Amino acid sequence: WSSGAVQRERTLAMIKPDGLSGNYTERIKEVILESGFDIVKEAVVHLDAERASLFYAEHYERSFFDSLVKYMTSGPVLAMVLERPDAVLHWRALIGPTDARKAKISHPNSIRAMCGLDSEKNCVHGSDSPQSAAREISFFFGDVRSDTVEHDEL
Ligand code: PPS
Repeated sequence: WSSGAVQRERTLAMIKPDGLSGNYTERIKEVILESGFDIVKEAVVHLDAERASLFYAEHYERSFFDSLVKYMTSGPVLAMVLERPDAVLHWRALIGPTDARKAKISHPNSIRAMCGLDSEKNCVHGSDSPQSAAREISFFFGDVRSDTVEHDEL
């Protein structure tokens, strides 16, 4: 059996405080849509330290953790759910390397090359795996399963 349908996938994209304050939102959205993604959900959120620490919990032991949390709470972010086939890989490729200084050299057409500054102020985030995407989407938008109809137990 083959319907010819291609499996679509979702990833979590985030425009970080420097991206929003630098007015890069519209340009980034253009790149997203030109690259074949649908923007399925979006929300502007101002994270507090507790929420930002939870989002980056896997980096708790890193020397940059406090600085990262401080930066990510310095202003609002725009969280988006992007959808297309292989969304996780495609969005990671589009944003480029973590360090925007390196991105400007090795990936000059990437989003981080366009609007990032360094490893901290790197303008955008992307989930690094489908598992991370599921966690991060539910972090910002709640459990997707809540979209299904629930039946009360008798
Ligand atoms: S690493 O070294 O591979 O774990 O780094 P990476 O996974 O690319 O980065 C994880 C997130 O940490 C941020 N980061 C930093 N913040 C502040 N200072 C420094 N030096 C630093 N290095 C990395 C980086 O922006 C990543 O954030 P996200 O939102 O996941 O892209």
